[in-house]
Amino acid sequence: MNAFTDDPRHADDLHAWQILRPLLDDGRYLPWTTGSMRPAALVAVCNEIVHGRRTSIVECGSGVSTVVIARLLRQRGSESAVVALEHDPDWARLVSELLADEHLSAFGRVIHAPLAGEPPWYSLTALAELPEVVDLLIIDGPPADRPGNGLRRAPALAALESRLSEAAVVYLDDINRAGEQAVVASWQAMTDWIFDIDAVSGTARGHRRPADCPN
Ligand SMILES: C[S@@+](CC[C@H](N)C(=O)[O-])C[C@H]1O[C@@H](n2cnc3c(N)ncnc32)[C@H](O)[C@@H]1O
Repeated sequence: MNAFTDDPRHADDLHAWQILRPLLDDGRYLPWTTGSMRPAALVAVCNEIVHGRRTSIVECGSGVSTVVIARLLRQRGSESAVVALEHDPDWARLVSELLADEHLSAFGRVIHAPLAGEPPWYSLTALAELPEVVDLLIIDGPPADRPGNGLRRAPALAALESRLSEAAVVYLDDINRAGEQAVVASWQAMTDWIFDIDAVSGTARGHRRPADCPN
């Protein structure tokens, strides 16, 4: 058995690297790690920005995704930006430096937001710096990969819903994990948001339930 060739995600990600190439070639080295969003997930988000003409983007959990999205917004001549919440001050500084080094500060910004509460989520005082109206919310933080941390992203929807425009969409990354699946199930049970799972990208895409759509 070959763990590389037997996992269909690798083929999807190889394809995604090719799709992302114009954005990867448009800047400096980016420190991709296993903590980074998978290329296939980043393609799903970039497609949403292009197809959905998303202009006000908030990301929970910064990283190379923040830089790639900022590069896309610059390439498109957009007047919009991605604003990322980041709990780790060192990581916030590093991602901010990556953005500044590429003169991307008009297209991407990181807000240091320490975690607070239970489950620990970004401090509510930091949210005051976010745009008042958001049409794309990407949830890829706080980290939720350790045992017992699976529900750490659950507070995101309630905390940010008042900023989400009527036509806004939400992407939750890592939907292959039991914790994120439980988070989506709870959102669908307790809110008027419905989610579609995309197995190729490993994301769940949510939007408000249309008025004529029964529960
Ligand atoms: C799932 S990661 C977010 C990844 C980000 N959206 C991306 O695609 O690059 C969640 C958190 O892990 C931390 N993190 C991500 N990449 C890291 C790295 N290479 N080194 C250290 N911490 C990292 C950051 O605190 C980040 O907010």
